[in-house]
Amino acid sequence: MEVERVQGVASSILSKGAIPAEYIRPQQEQPSVTTYRGPVPKIPSVDLADADHVGLVRAVADASQEWGLFQVVNHGIPAEVIAELQRVGKEFFELPVEEKEKYARPPGAQSLEGYGTRLQKNLDGKKSWVDHLFHKIWPPSSIDYRFWPANPPAYREANEEYAKHVQKVADKLFGCLSLGLGLEEDAMKKAVGGDDLQYNLKINYYPPCPRPDLALGVLPHTDLCTLTLLVPNEVPGLQVLKDGKWIDAEYIPNALIVHIGDQVEILSNGEYRSVLHRTTVNKEKARMSWPVFLEPPMEWVVGPLPQLLANQEGKDHASGEPPKYKTKKFKDYMYCKLNKLPQ
Ligand code: OGA
Ligand code: NI
Repeated sequence: MEVERVQGVASSILSKGAIPAEYIRPQQEQPSVTTYRGPVPKIPSVDLADADHVGLVRAVADASQEWGLFQVVNHGIPAEVIAELQRVGKEFFELPVEEKEKYARPPGAQSLEGYGTRLQKNLDGKKSWVDHLFHKIWPPSSIDYRFWPANPPAYREANEEYAKHVQKVADKLFGCLSLGLGLEEDAMKKAVGGDDLQYNLKINYYPPCPRPDLALGVLPHTDLCTLTLLVPNEVPGLQVLKDGKWIDAEYIPNALIVHIGDQVEILSNGEYRSVLHRTTVNKEKARMSWPVFLEPPMEWVVGPLPQLLANQEGKDHASGEPPKYKTKKFKDYMYCKLNKLPQ
């Protein structure tokens, strides 16, 4: 079955100024109607090299409680490593369609890896204005190089280099998130799978769209993983829902955008918030983003951390709360979420 790619649709209608009906969101979802334009508080930004460690922990914890999303500067990943990750990803999406289709996700495959376009299961039959490439980048034993483009030739090295660096940032963030809850520094990392934590890279490619006022890229959702560490390109488009308003994330060169995902909300028993977000598209420019989703192994069991719950003997940090979420295997959580079933 030939799947229609949004990139192909975009180039075929470039001069027409209109988009096919299936990409037009219902009015109550259209970005032109729903984006908040008044004065808003800024999405927090955290300096990961801050010498004041207590202050850093507080900043990460506060942002994770109030926003579920923040930007990270001074994260230690060299600017060249990020630029190279972006360069090779962009070059891949600029290859001819036949070249990209070599990496297409096999129809019916269990894994989400590969080049693809989301086939909407939504009842309204509407489509989103985005194509993607999905593959694992860490640990090495989990990598399936079939889904790593051979072109451009530097693709592999650039992604391997990024994977090495991104782990250090993840470890530091999990440490801050743990300390922010009054736990041991390694508590959160252990609870998400320790060294078996999976790093899944997605490249989102949002082609220029003649009617950015009517279409959306990714639809409103929360990420089902633990944390998402995202590199954007210079074209803004990410929006987060805060106090009922869709707010734009500004572009900060070289910053990473961190999302709290569902599993961290669960582990923290609701203390940290998995954030609802979506993306808008741009009239002239292709927007791209490189989220890395940090996921526990499929069989891993995730639930509210016992140290945080009421009536735990020998624990001195008891918020006194009963568990607000079920404890279940990550694969079962994922199945319910992807099939829109209750958890
Ligand atoms: C996602 C996502 C945001 C972006 O792929 O889950 O939310 O900025 N992407 O592209
Ligand atoms: Ni997301």
